[in-house]
Amino acid sequence: MKLYLFKNHFMRKLTRSFGLLFLVGLFTLSFNNTLVAQDGATLFKNNCANCHSPAAKRGTGPGLQGFWDRIPGGDEEGKNAWLINWVKNSAAVINGGKDAYINKLYAEYNNYPMQAQPHLSNDEVLAIKDYLISYVPPVADDSAAGAKKNPFIKEEKSFFTPTIQWLLGLSLLFLILAVVLRNIKNTLQDSVDEKEGLIREKRAFPKNLFHWMGTHKLQAGLIILLIKIILLTKLYYWTLGIGVYQGYQPEQPIKFSHAIHAGENGISCVYCHHSAEKGKHAGIPSVNVCMNCHKGISEGTWTGTKEISKIYEAAGYNPETGRYDQPEKPIEWVKIHNLPDLAYFNHSQHVVVGGIECQTCHGPVEEMHELYQHSELTMGWCINCHRETDVKMEGNGYYNKMLSELKAKHKGVEVFKVEDIGGLECSKCHY
Ligand code: HEC
Ligand code: HEC
Ligand code: HEC
Ligand code: HEC
Ligand code: HEC
Ligand code: HEC
Repeated sequence: MKLYLFKNHFMRKLTRSFGLLFLVGLFTLSFNNTLVAQDGATLFKNNCANCHSPAAKRGTGPGLQGFWDRIPGGDEEGKNAWLINWVKNSAAVINGGKDAYINKLYAEYNNYPMQAQPHLSNDEVLAIKDYLISYVPPVADDSAAGAKKNPFIKEEKSFFTPTIQWLLGLSLLFLILAVVLRNIKNTLQDSVDEKEGLIREKRAFPKNLFHWMGTHKLQAGLIILLIKIILLTKLYYWTLGIGVYQGYQPEQPIKFSHAIHAGENGISCVYCHHSAEKGKHAGIPSVNVCMNCHKGISEGTWTGTKEISKIYEAAGYNPETGRYDQPEKPIEWVKIHNLPDLAYFNHSQHVVVGGIECQTCHGPVEEMHELYQHSELTMGWCINCHRETDVKMEGNGYYNKMLSELKAKHKGVEVFKVEDIGGLECSKCHY
């Protein structure tokens, strides 16, 4: 038998639906709050973070911690209006020259005009404001686990770290010592023998070594075999490695970190290597590209002004006057990837037409403080990928004709590898 709390069917339904409504309401309410806060954070990240830190740190623009207390406008409503106007029409405010607060700030930031953001709605600007006011900088954790290590200081190996090389070296030293001592002993013995009138065959070093080998054939044979094996494996690996520079990581003239730029600050690869999408070479950015940001950012977290001042030197920029009045001195980056001239490689063919991520070939660049060559860059490496990778032909105008031809030729096959479009032909990669 079933027990009902409410005998009346209708009442039961009613309480149930009210309960459900209540839960849904509670849920959306709690969600809504975080949604608003998150919106402000996302809006800030997408529109302002490339120039402003939400904390006090100076970037291209001022750190925005405490900005609410310093901006003009008077009461809350006045400040809201001032902020909305400034964010959406900053160019007009600067050019108008009537806002004393901005005039001063503008001069302080080397006449760098804040980009106007007219696409933001008033509510969106206010959401950013709420986010900034409630922003609490993460507490610096100085405990051993929390403290970040300076990525530019390489960990030095202790002089006494026991390594195989050390042990081998040490045993070699003992061996030499033993031989020398034995020789000394022998010479002393010889001179004693001579005094006593005993004539004995002299035992010079190589002679007594051969003597030892003669009497200890097995041991001598084993030692010689061991030396041969070591030398041969060394030779084998050495020949394998000729011409392969995987892992090559030269010292660069400026400690430029991809982890800080492409990783922490999320700058897109093609912002700096823009020709990767247009042609054969990805290219290295000129110093002007660095100056886009570093005119405003003169100090780094880890290297202070030391490394960034080299950018100013290269650009002929004087940070005191804010003018380019020094002689220019191009930065001489050391090239890391080098295909021999006999091979032809084209970036845009792979990045744009092939749709391959930079990281597929260059590895986790956004984690590298110091860049290194990730892949082998051998012919076998190119060929393997051409054998395994499907060509993205569907919907690619470049391939419409070829796709229908291939489909007619290979009935029933829908996807083709790079191999099938001639990616293994010598002449494609060799002129
Ligand atoms: C291209 C860089 C850039 C972007 C993007 C940018 N700003 Fe600015 N901002 C500046 C600079 C530079 C100044 C200092 C005034 C000047 O030189 O124009 C400034 C000043 C300000 C100030 C006054 C700061 C103070 O200390 O009183 C506020 C507030 C501000 N920006 C808010 C924003 C908000 C909000 C956004 C995003 C919607 C934003 N900015 C996007 C560069 C930028
Ligand atoms: C802020 C500018 C900037 C950004 C963003 C950037 N790079 Fe670089 N990249 C450089 C500079 C400068 C060098 C030369 C110095 C060096 O090798 O570290 C370089 C070097 C390289 C090299 C080696 C070039 C050689 O000498 O063979 C590769 C590969 C590379 N970048 C790939 C990437 C990838 C992939 C990304 C995105 C994840 C990226 N870069 C983002 C500026 C940038
Ligand atoms: C299919 C593999 C592949 C992909 C994908 C790829 N690269 Fe490369 N990259 C290479 C090879 C191979 C070289 C050496 C080229 C040479 O020496 O001529 C190279 C060289 C470079 C260099 C040195 C300068 C130059 O142009 O020779 C930079 C910088 C670079 N790549 C950045 C990028 C970036 C950024 C992307 C993504 C947008 C990317 N690469 C995508 C294979 C690739
Ligand atoms: C899109 C903006 C942008 C561009 C372009 C850019 N940087 Fe930076 N750079 C930054 C930011 C953000 C930081 C972090 C500053 C900090 O540590 O507070 C930084 C930091 C640095 C540092 C200091 C690292 C440290 O922590 O001490 C060096 C050195 C540097 N950049 C060199 C370069 C060079 C060289 C170029 C040109 C190839 C370049 N940057 C281009 C934004 C940029
Ligand atoms: C990660 C995979 C990958 C690697 C590594 C790779 N390729 Fe490719 N390659 C492709 C793909 C995918 C295509 C087809 C792109 C397209 O749709 O045209 C392609 C196309 C080509 C083409 C044009 C072929 C044609 O028939 O049009 C040439 C030339 C080429 N690659 C050269 C090279 C060389 C040289 C290397 C080595 C230095 C290399 N590739 C390494 C994936 C790769
Ligand atoms: C997908 C591109 C690609 C194709 C297809 C290709 N090669 Fe290569 N080849 C290379 C690259 C890249 C190198 C340079 C490798 C290096 O430096 O280790 C190379 C190097 C060579 C070398 C120089 C020897 C060496 O190891 O340095 C010869 C010879 C050669 N290729 C012959 C051929 C012949 C013959 C074919 C046709 C059967 C062919 N290649 C097809 C990319 C290719």
